[in-house]
Amino acid sequence: MSREKPITLAIDIGGSGVKIMLLDWNSKPISERLRVPTPQPPTPDNVIEALDSLRKQVKGFDRISIGFPGVVKRGVTYTAANLDPSWIGFPLASSIRKRWRRPVRVANDAAVQGFGAIRGHGVELVLTLGTGMGSALYTDGNLCPGLELGHHPWLKGLTYEDHLGRRGYKRHGKKKWNKYLTKAIEQTEHTFNWDHLYIGGGNAKHITLEPNPKVSIISNQEGLIGGVALWQDSDL
Ligand code: BGC
Repeated sequence: MSREKPITLAIDIGGSGVKIMLLDWNSKPISERLRVPTPQPPTPDNVIEALDSLRKQVKGFDRISIGFPGVVKRGVTYTAANLDPSWIGFPLASSIRKRWRRPVRVANDAAVQGFGAIRGHGVELVLTLGTGMGSALYTDGNLCPGLELGHHPWLKGLTYEDHLGRRGYKRHGKKKWNKYLTKAIEQTEHTFNWDHLYIGGGNAKHITLEPNPKVSIISNQEGLIGGVALWQDSDL
């Protein structure tokens, strides 16, 4: 590591946009948030090309954190429901490490977003409502990796993501989508007995629910800010 207090290049690969930002040691943003639309088709080669173009616009980072919209284990991507099937079994961490010659950590996008928001006490659940529905569960700040609640069968033969992701928002419209969200809050409270729930993602701006002290709406910025925390979790 070239600096005592390393600078992290945080990357968020999403179904509609690819974003990057530089963060200091304390997770403080030290660059603009740069974004390009997710290339089509969103294959590894095309996404990496988009990352190359973004990377050229920032200077001076020591390590890279990536939030990826699927199951990630030890730097390899195993699902990518809203990207392209060619991500299944793709060694994302080692590909970027070889290409950019910096250490890389990769985690699920909702997990990274959660790291930027959680308090680290008790059971905390994060749901992200964007193209897909992301989910991440923590106990005392430790991630339980691999939760894919979005694809869990739920109501009327459809999954949580079918109802609450981008397709669900289009299908139901704002009012009904908010009703489904209320049901999902109740259902997840009974399933996980969370102490606190955080809801983020691009569609969180459409939430019209009454304030609830146990539920926080979080900004999309956390999607990148959580990148520094990946380096505190020895298991990632
Ligand atoms: C994926 C999750 C991801 C979420 C949000 C879902 O379709 O399965 O892994 O976190 O979309 O991007």
